[in-house]
Amino acid sequence: NFHPIFFLKLPYLLHLAGLPKKTQTYLFFQIHANNVDAFRTHLAQLVPHITTIAQVKADLDQIAKNKQSGDNQLLKLSGINIAFSQKGLTLLGITDAIGDDVFKAGMLADAKNLGDKNKNSSGTFAPDWDPAFLEDIHGLILVSGDSHTTVSKQINHIEHLFRMNGKNASIHKVISIVGDVRPGEEKGHEHFGFLDGISQPTLDGLTEFEPFPNGEKVPTIAQGVTLVGRPGDKVTNRPSWALDGSFLSFRYLFQLVPEFNSFLQANPIPGMPAAEGSELLGARLVGRWKSGAPVDLAPLKDNPTLGADTQERNDFRYTADNNDQQTQDRCPFAAHTRKTNPRADLEDHGIPTDPQRIIRRGIQFGPEVSAGEAASGKTAQGRGLLFACYQSNIANGFQFIQTKWANNVNFPPFKTAVAAPGFDPIIGQENNDNSLRTMEGTNPASQGTALSLSAEWVVPKGGEYFFSPSISALKGTFAT
Ligand code: HEM
Repeated sequence: NFHPIFFLKLPYLLHLAGLPKKTQTYLFFQIHANNVDAFRTHLAQLVPHITTIAQVKADLDQIAKNKQSGDNQLLKLSGINIAFSQKGLTLLGITDAIGDDVFKAGMLADAKNLGDKNKNSSGTFAPDWDPAFLEDIHGLILVSGDSHTTVSKQINHIEHLFRMNGKNASIHKVISIVGDVRPGEEKGHEHFGFLDGISQPTLDGLTEFEPFPNGEKVPTIAQGVTLVGRPGDKVTNRPSWALDGSFLSFRYLFQLVPEFNSFLQANPIPGMPAAEGSELLGARLVGRWKSGAPVDLAPLKDNPTLGADTQERNDFRYTADNNDQQTQDRCPFAAHTRKTNPRADLEDHGIPTDPQRIIRRGIQFGPEVSAGEAASGKTAQGRGLLFACYQSNIANGFQFIQTKWANNVNFPPFKTAVAAPGFDPIIGQENNDNSLRTMEGTNPASQGTALSLSAEWVVPKGGEYFFSPSISALKGTFAT
């Protein structure tokens, strides 16, 4: 007699820390157009392996029991999810209007609007993406686990289910990308070095399912901001099978880590030792210190105790300056976390931010920076973030945050003291023009001075919009 939400799939709700997820494989696939019926049969065999919250909870209970009995062995945990692009839905003959035009058109059609670079020096727009993401991608299978061995076993099993190496194959791989949590002390930190995945919304009515909300002190949002068809989903007339599904926006984001670090070194905040000035600049670009402590609560010095405190590290609204959010003493208006979740900057003007909340489930890819790269200040090996976020409406979620907030130099609004807050220094972008890549407020002692941000340190190399259906939709609509 579980609450229906208990049968939701793993990724929406489970906090990164909840499952010992160490590695994740993103398998982007194409369905064979002449073997769609076989695909449905194969999919039906995959469905029992897709992870629900109920399964994860059982696994975590088992871990707790093992610990009690002195057996500290990690369970071989893994999780599987599947999601489809519009092209995938069309091929499967699922033609009901799902109510999301951005999803329907796909990310390639949205690349220009998102601000991605044009590979063609003139004429038609062609994003400078990995060629795999220029191909038709019909779906994505996501496998997470505690080790490469566990994940490879699951991938082998999936290849077998879809007969990928045989005559009756129903899908083939377009590209598969392996993401890995960073090693040692860097666990949970993205490649620039900052603790990530801290600020996640929690859905109304899920508090009974501890440890899923993750214990963070965060306001809850309506379930329908994330889950299609639940209260708070503003789109009506969705097909009934879409209930409890969620749209997944995926971005293949490369990070130029040595270049980012060189920039911090070259532009320390004046008035303090250079190394501290560079560290403070980094924190002011992100909105948090590397430990996760928000600059709004710890403006001058990192506070690792605060960064680790799940009760306190999200308990801020950019109101600590106590000046009607008109000064940037503590946090620049354009800092990444402030751009992507402006809190009081909008809410205190009667504009809700809930519709823009997304659940982020990304993971890092690529090796650690080598000594040679660090010394030269130049990236030689690809690394970055497999950015993945869930929302019930892409135009209100990922797309809104990227285009209306991060890329918009005038956001957040109502700031009379500055000409324009500037770009989000981490993800703000605008096609082939870098002249607008400036932000104000990096130096607390000279807040109106604009800092030129140089070229982007985050380079998008592809992506797609997907719909991740509920288990019952997979069984009743996709696999039959
Ligand atoms: C927060 C890094 C891309 C949206 C953060 C945080 C870091 C970070 C360090 C602070 C930790 C936290 O609050 O959880 C990055 C890096 C990116 C990237 C390095 C690219 C490589 C994106 C993209 C979006 C995004 C593409 C959406 C368009 C957010 C949001 C938050 C966040 C919504 C939470 C803000 C809050 O609630 O306070 N990011 N991010 N990020 N990021 Fe990103």
